[in-house]
Amino acid sequence: MKNFYLETFGCQMNVVDSEQIVDLVQQLGYVQVGSPEPADLIILNTCSIRARAERKVYGHLGRFKPLKQRRPGLIIAVCGCVAQQEGGRMLEKVPYLDVVCGTHNVHRLGDMLRQVEERRARCAEVAFLEADQRRRLFPERRPNAEVTRFVTVIQGCDNFCSYCVVPHVRGREVSRPAAEVLDEVQALAAQGVREITLIGQNVNSYGRKEGDEISFAALLKQVNAVEGLERIRFMTSHPKDLSDELVDCFGELDKLCKHIHLPVQAGGDAVLKAMRRGYTREQYLGRIVRLRRVCPDIRVTSDVIVGFPGETESDFEQTMDLLKEARFAEIYSFIYSARPGTSAADLTDETPKAVKQERFDRMLALQEEITLEYHRRDVGQVLPLLVEGSSRQGNGQLFGRTTWNRIVNFDGGRDLIGQIVPVRLVRAYRNSHLGELA
Ligand code: 5AD
Ligand code: SF4
Repeated sequence: MKNFYLETFGCQMNVVDSEQIVDLVQQLGYVQVGSPEPADLIILNTCSIRARAERKVYGHLGRFKPLKQRRPGLIIAVCGCVAQQEGGRMLEKVPYLDVVCGTHNVHRLGDMLRQVEERRARCAEVAFLEADQRRRLFPERRPNAEVTRFVTVIQGCDNFCSYCVVPHVRGREVSRPAAEVLDEVQALAAQGVREITLIGQNVNSYGRKEGDEISFAALLKQVNAVEGLERIRFMTSHPKDLSDELVDCFGELDKLCKHIHLPVQAGGDAVLKAMRRGYTREQYLGRIVRLRRVCPDIRVTSDVIVGFPGETESDFEQTMDLLKEARFAEIYSFIYSARPGTSAADLTDETPKAVKQERFDRMLALQEEITLEYHRRDVGQVLPLLVEGSSRQGNGQLFGRTTWNRIVNFDGGRDLIGQIVPVRLVRAYRNSHLGELA
């Protein structure tokens, strides 16, 4: 028997790729284990969105070195965005690494591993594929009956925001044929999947390049009609491509959850322009107004970058101001990190690190207040919860999510998993609510 250990970093695109990786290596006869020590094959599926994520990969590889010295037969592979960015160089940097598999090459991983097994031939494959080939190779995973699943609708990104490495490591946008998306959703629903999240770096531009494809809003409407499915989510949306037609879906589609993740990145026009985001502060806030008009209790979450090169105190104040105006339910905030190959990497950046950190802390404190206010106000409400499984706290409780994507832990029998049940929120914590069956 052969064992493999897989660790996944980064975003939902990597989660989906990892599901495909698991299927592929299982076909080679490997059985998944939960720690690297007993593994014959170790795979890291990596993220390079910020420098820290990339450093983490090298840190992890370092920890596997003694394992390889003890067991020279051990195979170590790196997939994902760091593999794509570094390519063959990585084999030189890390002499005990065997396989480097790029973001367009996951379907080749089985052959690459076999090559190492049979001839100990180290290999790197990181060539980007042509669009039509890519269109035929959307991640294929075995359908299974989990409560929630991701379904990929578009890969890559054409926006080239000045700070972002994604277009460089994931390639250009390619949309998946609508019929294939619907087939997958139908198959999943038939297996018992209750909620699907349609994913892509920018789902809003679905079908834009492929003249024969429908709009993302039209695709959502078709998915909404799939029998057996209870809930739909999607991510990530680019504000500049959030059409009225798509906003209106939140008022029309009964299965669409009342939550949208809409990364704003910055609150002032000067920084938005330098980031090449393609919208102004007013336009962004206008989208939020329309979303709330169409669906008054929708919750919006966002991403924000602090300390972009040239960001002044007054630029930053505009971001703080926008947080107050937009009243996001939650934000994911990051200190700017220069990424190789991006256009912002060439900008001079004179803001001291300590100033960036101070701004970051101030922003966190403000958002903490806003988030807490939402959560405190929610206590006492009875809400429908889709029960996903055992609570990650390991205390025998179950957990589920509200339509707003908020996690609620509560006591209940395992027969509730996969059902939508009414739960009263009794207490608010930072990352979850405690609830009770109502
Ligand atoms: N530095 C800091 N944050 C970044 N993000 C993307 N690129 C960078 C970078 N170079 C953030 C953005 C994005 C989220 C996934 O990561 O906010 O929305
Ligand atoms: Fe990280 Fe972006 Fe790659 Fe996702 S696509 S794993 S966020 S670098």
